[in-house]
Amino acid sequence: MCGIIGYIGQKKANGILIEGLKRLEYRGYDSAGIAILDQGEIFPLKCVGKVHELAKKVQSHFQHSGTIGIGHTRWATHGNVSEKNAHPHLSNGNNFAIAHNGIIENYLPIKAFLIEKNYKFYSDTDTEILANLIDYHYQKEKYLSFAEIIRKSLLHVEGTYGIVVLSKIFKDEIVAARKSSPLLIGLGNGENIIASDAAAVARYTKRVIYLNDGEIASVCSDNFSVITLGEGSVDMVYHELDWEIGDEDLGDFPTHMLKEIFEQPSSIENAMRGRFTEDASSSKFGGLSLTPQEFRSVERLLFCACGTAYHACLEGKYLIEKYARIPVDVEYASEFRYRNAPLQRNTLVFVVSQSGETIDTLAALQEAKRKGYPVMGITNAVGSTIARATDSGIYQHAGLEIGVASTKAFTSQLTILSMLALLFARVRDMDDFSGRQYVYALKTLPKTIKEVLKLSEQISAIAEKYYGQGRFLFLGRQTMYPIALEGALKLKEISYVHAEAFPTAEMKHGPIALISEESVCIFLATQKEMLDKTMSNIQEVKARGAKVIVITSNTQIAWEVFCNEVIKIPETHPGVNPIVSTIPLQLFAYYVGLLRGCDIDRPRNLAKSVTVE
Ligand code: G6P
Repeated sequence: MCGIIGYIGQKKANGILIEGLKRLEYRGYDSAGIAILDQGEIFPLKCVGKVHELAKKVQSHFQHSGTIGIGHTRWATHGNVSEKNAHPHLSNGNNFAIAHNGIIENYLPIKAFLIEKNYKFYSDTDTEILANLIDYHYQKEKYLSFAEIIRKSLLHVEGTYGIVVLSKIFKDEIVAARKSSPLLIGLGNGENIIASDAAAVARYTKRVIYLNDGEIASVCSDNFSVITLGEGSVDMVYHELDWEIGDEDLGDFPTHMLKEIFEQPSSIENAMRGRFTEDASSSKFGGLSLTPQEFRSVERLLFCACGTAYHACLEGKYLIEKYARIPVDVEYASEFRYRNAPLQRNTLVFVVSQSGETIDTLAALQEAKRKGYPVMGITNAVGSTIARATDSGIYQHAGLEIGVASTKAFTSQLTILSMLALLFARVRDMDDFSGRQYVYALKTLPKTIKEVLKLSEQISAIAEKYYGQGRFLFLGRQTMYPIALEGALKLKEISYVHAEAFPTAEMKHGPIALISEESVCIFLATQKEMLDKTMSNIQEVKARGAKVIVITSNTQIAWEVFCNEVIKIPETHPGVNPIVSTIPLQLFAYYVGLLRGCDIDRPRNLAKSVTVE
């Protein structure tokens, strides 16, 4: 989704804004722009397409040396993808320039009001009305401070926003404000950077504050102050970013997705670090503020999430119900928020989100809290909106994930959910010995994943044979079903090929009608107890002409006789087996996408973090 950057300091803003926009590219966008304040005037520059096109334009004819400016990557909502709709937008008379994330829902009546006041509009966006509304309030009450003008303007606005505003009237400050759209201020030495995402500031400073909803910040080069939109008080919390410089660089890898797939041994290690009990028979999470008694009194769990995180939750359901025997519901956050779901007492709610900013997940969280349920979070982005809004939670510590298709964040969520299954099981019925076996399997997981990553070449060769096929079906039973769903999602996201997933036995109840010679069926056959049944299902699709790829840890069966391709992975504990089985599917999606010539790190139409409904 859209990205925002603002810089005020001693250096030329141009370069820093372009660099910041590059760090925001992974969020997904279709046009970009900057505006610089130079010698008392605001100069905008925009383009459709990638940030490197904007950088070229800057290089060739935009030599403004101003040290204050704002920038934006736009993911179109109101108005088509065009230069005139790209941000920043200027007010009539060029007093103000604004970059905006979110949606102004009442933009039409405001626009009508401003047209009556003789304001002209040059774009189809909801954002341009904000620029002119700000100018209107400035013209009306010229004695007000910059932040007060923004406050007065925002009081008329319904919807969501993260904004940065630049002005030629107020030459030494940028004003930023948020409502349901993330914004943070990176605090530097004689310079400050405002951004919608820590990725854009991590290179300059690790010290940040996150703005809360309803806060308006006036940011100068060496200080800042915050007021609130309403009566509420300012609640400022300083955070230290835990990202390493270079996390966002590719190193020797051709794409972020491949780099992140190969980072999984360490991201999984980081998800587990310091989270096992001393006797190595259970797990523990410092961030979960629950006593063993409270853990025991939980009667039901509800997980809410979107996309890949939803698949992780579904896997959590299988594992928690299997090991801890607690009933678990899993809901798409976007459904839960409007469904008025009846929840029983003693339900503990978890929201899971890599970015910690997905608006549907945030809304589900707020709905559960409104109903009085304790809500825990599992998030990767420290200090993100969801992390701050939950009662307590677990950080993934997977590091920055840039590839739009989530890989290492998914397996890190799976690892944490598997550890939660163990924790809930150990305060209930799981014995000490079984607990130790489980912990051992988790601790050796990074080593096992390294082994599976060695299959990369084999999987690349398999992708080469099948990447031209028109239809892919992913099939798995029980704990392999969510993994099949995630395998199909990865393939769709990265290669735009038609892929679906079903519980293996469900296939004959409809999907089998899709089977033809054009089809490739990918079977997850890694559970001992399910092998006979899975083999029969393989025969059924073979008989109808499908190509079969099987992923298995069984070495006794002559799979080669009746499958086209066999990918052998190590046999592991059932609590970690789903994590291990995910890796070949990620690699397969990656290589198919590559062979189909797709933009792996920036797949079409997708955004890394979806901050609109
Ligand atoms: C978007 C991304 C998905 C992601 C989903 C949830 O749709 O494209 O890859 O799984 O949002 O994101 P979250 O940050 O909440 O895990």
